[in-house]
Amino acid sequence: MAAETARTVIISGGGTGIGRATAAAFAREGARVVILGRREEPLRAAAHELGPNVDYVRADVSRREQVAAAVGAVVERHGSVAVLVNAAGFVEGVATNSPPDEAERLWDAVLDTNLKGSFLLALAVAPHLPRPGGRIINVSSIAAFTGGSRPGALAYAAAKAGLHGLTYGLARELSPQGITVNAVAPGFIADTGFTGAWSGERIRGIVEQTPAGRAGRADDIAAAIRYLASPAAAFVTGEILNVNGGWLFGR
Ligand SMILES: NC(=O)c1ccc[n+]([C@@H]2O[C@H](COP(=O)([O-])OP(=O)(O)OC[C@H]3O[C@@H](n4cnc5c(N)ncnc54)[C@H](OP(=O)(O)O)[C@@H]3O)[C@@H](O)[C@H]2O)c1
Repeated sequence: MAAETARTVIISGGGTGIGRATAAAFAREGARVVILGRREEPLRAAAHELGPNVDYVRADVSRREQVAAAVGAVVERHGSVAVLVNAAGFVEGVATNSPPDEAERLWDAVLDTNLKGSFLLALAVAPHLPRPGGRIINVSSIAAFTGGSRPGALAYAAAKAGLHGLTYGLARELSPQGITVNAVAPGFIADTGFTGAWSGERIRGIVEQTPAGRAGRADDIAAAIRYLASPAAAFVTGEILNVNGGWLFGR
């Protein structure tokens, strides 16, 4: 793609894991990519390793003023934004037997990043998206359907299910303007900050339940996100695309 026609793509959580793999995929196609997160070090390292098409901006997606400043900086730097990928997220265990004050604190933190953060970024980016052609892609989770693969996912599953509602609502509002809004719901993705500490036993159990017979890779999710961002997906909006090796099929 010629530099003057390259799209600008903002990827929250782009310094690591799924977001980083997605940044690499967009950079390979010639897009200008801005990765966004809280920690400078992984962002700087990823931008350096992914090459001149990738730069970064620091922001906590749960803080409206930081999100506004980050999007303003991207627009000033690159003139426009064509694609937003909301991949920032994390899980903290919240279960029915958690101490109530701890449960409430973690609930707020998990919803603030996984759900409110995607909402704040979508609102900040929407005015800048091309009409037609703009794209918003949210990274959800299989946990939105299952409640999590083990107890303790109350806040996370609720946040990701809420992200589906946000996806539908944004699609309802923005699709008439030529902007598509979709979500990708990964199953188990190995080698991410998210799942890196999971035990071998837990991973083997998940792979045994996965018809495709392997763990997911960050590249599997990046490919789905790129499809939804492509012209080929112009008529796909308000959709949740499961990418989980069949873990959920026939549910
Ligand atoms: N890995 C899986 O199996 C799996 C399965 C289903 C869904 N997912 C979803 O996939 C997405 C990416 O996760 P991952 O697996 O790639 O894990 P990861 O490597 O831990 O990536 C999460 C990224 O989000 C960023 N982040 C977290 N909180 C943030 C905040 N408040 N503001 C800005 N950035 C924030 C982190 O950077 P900083 O800490 O520097 O901010 C980090 O780069 C998440 O939404 C996760 O829920 C993952």
